[in-house]
Amino acid sequence: MPFLSDTLSRVKPSPTIAVTNKARELKAAGKDVIGLGAGEPDFDTPQNIKDAAIAAINEGKTKYTAVDGTPELKEAICAKLKRDNNLTYTPDQVTVGTGGKQVLYNALMATLNPGDEVLIPAPYWVSYPDMVLLAGGTPTFVEGALETQFKITPEQLDAVITPKTKWLIFNSPSNPTGAGYSAEELKALTDVLKKHPQVWIMTDDMYEHLAYDDFKFCTPAEIEPELYDRTLTVNGVSKAYAMTGWRIGYAAGPKDLIKAIGKIQSQSTSNPCSISQAAAVEALNGPQDFIASNNEVFVRRRNLVCEMLNAIDGITCPVPEGAFYVYPSIAGLIGKTTPAGVKIEDDETFATALLEDKGVAVVFGAAFGLSPNFRVSYATSDEALKDACTRIQEFCASLS
Ligand SMILES: Cc1ncc(COP(=O)(O)O)c(C=O)c1O
Repeated sequence: MPFLSDTLSRVKPSPTIAVTNKARELKAAGKDVIGLGAGEPDFDTPQNIKDAAIAAINEGKTKYTAVDGTPELKEAICAKLKRDNNLTYTPDQVTVGTGGKQVLYNALMATLNPGDEVLIPAPYWVSYPDMVLLAGGTPTFVEGALETQFKITPEQLDAVITPKTKWLIFNSPSNPTGAGYSAEELKALTDVLKKHPQVWIMTDDMYEHLAYDDFKFCTPAEIEPELYDRTLTVNGVSKAYAMTGWRIGYAAGPKDLIKAIGKIQSQSTSNPCSISQAAAVEALNGPQDFIASNNEVFVRRRNLVCEMLNAIDGITCPVPEGAFYVYPSIAGLIGKTTPAGVKIEDDETFATALLEDKGVAVVFGAAFGLSPNFRVSYATSDEALKDACTRIQEFCASLS
């Protein structure tokens, strides 16, 4: 009898971990390594949010809470969804979990049966396919193209939906591309979804507030009220409020689904941290102005990285609307050889050679389901970004 479960064999180890481990090894060996892999803002959590957490500790808010979130936090989430997204939800349509990741996972666990398909546009956040597999479903994919900034078209969507498609996972602005769907682009997709009543929409709005230039964030249930009853709107405080370590995410949707998600959570982790929930209330209800100043910094960094990467022969880097990632194509470098004699066969060999030769750690595109590309997180200092992009320029110039 094997000790490990069959479920475990269905999922693969995270390909991003290989890059992170390699970077760590090289750093430990004394090499000067710049990491462009981080999926979190380099800003600190705002002081008013920290103060709310300290007050919660001092007031004794240190006990179990309701499994799926405190009434105060659910009220704050309902107010946020009304204010920012013009969506009306009542607290019994809201669930809170230990990060958006847990909420997404619980929703899949609560709804998938063997044979159910979950449609995932590629490139995608690395966790989606493996979460679907862990929950016993089948991930299916539809690829965005460089020419459409990696966004899928309504024709593509219509062509890949099958009678077994239970969910579409939608993520805008996207990890790993930063691309965001305009209201018009999203409406074209929701028009397709209206024709397929078996398909529910799990929208991952984690990067909602990281939206730049004149891009205006929008979410499916807001754009198409007819889809309200089959949409789970997932969001969290990790990215916009620089609260990745606090672990608070949430979702709003039909009551029965919200109840089912709570049932899974009640038999696994129970409530998310009581202190983090108090902090999240302050994040959602308190001043929001720091988001705009953080975004100015992100825009400056995005422009810096895109300009420096687009100056390289063989690299094309679309300028995205949001998040803190860019996803350049290295199609023009495939087949070239490094000075050490390594042939760049794909984006994985590119990322490995770049790390070994120049000490720059990026995540290769195959990890996100679309090649040949790599992901840069620009949530790091301007100096580090300039240094890293100069090294990438030198590396690419050294290829023959
Ligand atoms: C697209 C996307 N969704 C969800 C998450 C999970 O966020 P959380 O920290 O709330 O679990 C991340 C984090 O990297 C992400 O990039």
